Amino acid sequence: MLRGAPSRVGVCFDIDGVLVRGKEVLAGAREAVQKLRSVGVPYVFLTNGGGHLESVRARRLSDRLEVPVDPAQVVLAHSPMQQLVPEFGKKRVMILGCREEVDVAKAYGFERVTTPQAFHALHPELYSFRAASPHPHDDHHEDPIEALVVMHDPADWHIEVQVCLDILLGRDPVRMSSGEPEVDPTHRTQVVPLYNSNDDFIYASSYPHPRLAQGAFIETLSALFRKTTGGTSELKVNRFGKPHVVTFDFARKILEKQHDGPLERIFMIGDNPDADVAGANNAGDPFRSVLLETGVFKQGQDTNNADFVVPGVWDAIEQLVLPLH
Ligand code: G3P
Ligand code: MG
Repeated sequence: MLRGAPSRVGVCFDIDGVLVRGKEVLAGAREAVQKLRSVGVPYVFLTNGGGHLESVRARRLSDRLEVPVDPAQVVLAHSPMQQLVPEFGKKRVMILGCREEVDVAKAYGFERVTTPQAFHALHPELYSFRAASPHPHDDHHEDPIEALVVMHDPADWHIEVQVCLDILLGRDPVRMSSGEPEVDPTHRTQVVPLYNSNDDFIYASSYPHPRLAQGAFIETLSALFRKTTGGTSELKVNRFGKPHVVTFDFARKILEKQHDGPLERIFMIGDNPDADVAGANNAGDPFRSVLLETGVFKQGQDTNNADFVVPGVWDAIEQLVLPLH
């Protein structure tokens, strides 16, 4: 960790489309990170990826970029969701994703977690297109679910949408048999909050065209929620990750901790106008948005009012960051 470095400037590196793309480490990425480390500019990796612990991502990044990475320098989409633990840590919550998000949730302090698949195993009548099988992630099946927490990309959309709709509308078997009076006996009102770690609709992978991401799941769930309620109710989504200010505040505090004080300028270097540029612009000072052409954004497209557009990550470091150091 860099402490007391004589820098006025800090950097948030987006990962996919800036430092790596699929299995490829992008040109200039290693040099960019190694340079900041050597001159003492504080930096974090600010990604809408996740599904694993910050320490796991730090190890992978360290191997790929050939530079030591402290887990405290890694802000994943779900990292700021630790802020939900005081409210929900002891309540039963449903975690969604397709990686190791249940382990992540437990490490953050959520003590009572289930998943749509585990819930289905306990209540097979909820979904009949697939046989329910015993599932490890459920110990507390007597209590109603108090929150839905989408921590990573769900990959089993049909059953996940069905189970989420039931819980959101208070018509799942646990809520129905809880003995508590129903909030809305017509089941058209959202009775459970939904938290989402990542709004990205698309992301850049090694495939030449963008791939659907977690935001596409939320769009789908929202559309089906509206349809299911006969158009009477909109799904309320509490949003984390880029472009939301909660995430940029979280990253700024980490950078200020590294630096031991406030920074005059923080460059968000990203490839996604909707996540990276909009996020830095929404967050305002001391953030500035830097858009690269190595990922989602292509020359000629709308930059979303990026403060700077440069070809690659090394250009951003050389032209924008180092002159302010
Ligand atoms: O939303 C998909 C994720 O891979 C985006 O990652 O690093 O570009 O924020 P990143
Ligand atoms: Mg990106």
